[in-house]
Amino acid sequence: MPKGKVTKAIFPVAGLGTRFLPATKAIPKETLTLVDRPLIQYAVDEALASGIEQLIFITARGKTNLEDYFDRSPELERTLALAGKKDLLRIVENCTLDSGAVTYVRQNQALGLGHAIACARHLIQDEPFAVILPDDVISASTPCLQQMIAVHANTGGSVIAAMEVPPAQSGAYGILDVAGVAGRVAQVRAIVEKPRPEQAPSNLAVIGRYILDPSIFDHLAGLQASAGGEIQLTDAIAGLVAAGSPVHAYRFKGDRFDCGSKAGFLQATVSFALARSELREEFGAYLNSMVALQNAAQ
Ligand code: G1P
Repeated sequence: MPKGKVTKAIFPVAGLGTRFLPATKAIPKETLTLVDRPLIQYAVDEALASGIEQLIFITARGKTNLEDYFDRSPELERTLALAGKKDLLRIVENCTLDSGAVTYVRQNQALGLGHAIACARHLIQDEPFAVILPDDVISASTPCLQQMIAVHANTGGSVIAAMEVPPAQSGAYGILDVAGVAGRVAQVRAIVEKPRPEQAPSNLAVIGRYILDPSIFDHLAGLQASAGGEIQLTDAIAGLVAAGSPVHAYRFKGDRFDCGSKAGFLQATVSFALARSELREEFGAYLNSMVALQNAAQ
């Protein structure tokens, strides 16, 4: 039997980020800034706050900025220390990950999310593990992954974050068919990647947080490309369900922002800025004036 504790998280960060071109021509999408921190920092903070000890990044060519970001920066640290800028020094030091806690795996072909996860098989062994898609930023008083780990302690198997989306948007998500709903938890009967609305089994969508049983790797190993011409994680999860391995959907508590889209990224920027005490007043006043201008123009 696999060990029960979830201590490892995989962060797939190999994507080209084409929706944010030209910004992402020379910098990784995951280092785009939400207020004053790169997108990936929110995902890492969530993982660490949820008890994750080992962070595995699936990277690709062009992602060295991301590796540098989590490394020490001796020259900058020395300069800040000499200038007595202790607060800034602490901020810089806090985003350094311990060498022993972080692994970078290069995915040398863009074959899809399922393929990206399969690249970490040798690092996971026989234990359940988390997957965090950094595009999905979730603001919650209890971190989403921590909520899921608590659910997993009861259900075992695999747990997938879920939320209802407008039916017309089913083509942007993995969509779930569930049964046996108990509060926020439900058993997954089927899962399908990006169905057209008329073919979607429900409007319950997969959001980018997973706790997966390690047997998922056996299902990933035999997969062919499917939706979008990619090897899909969703198909391997469907394999788990078909094999009778328990998979549960969990409707998490929190606000999710789709930072893979420009509108979602902007919404997250506004929401996170307004949540910051040092920005709230000035930025809030600016937003109010913008709304007033818009209303006056109508
Ligand atoms: C991926 C998954 C999809 C899931 C989504 C959540 O799609 O393949 O099942 O619903 O993340 O954000 P992507 O957004 O990478 O196309």
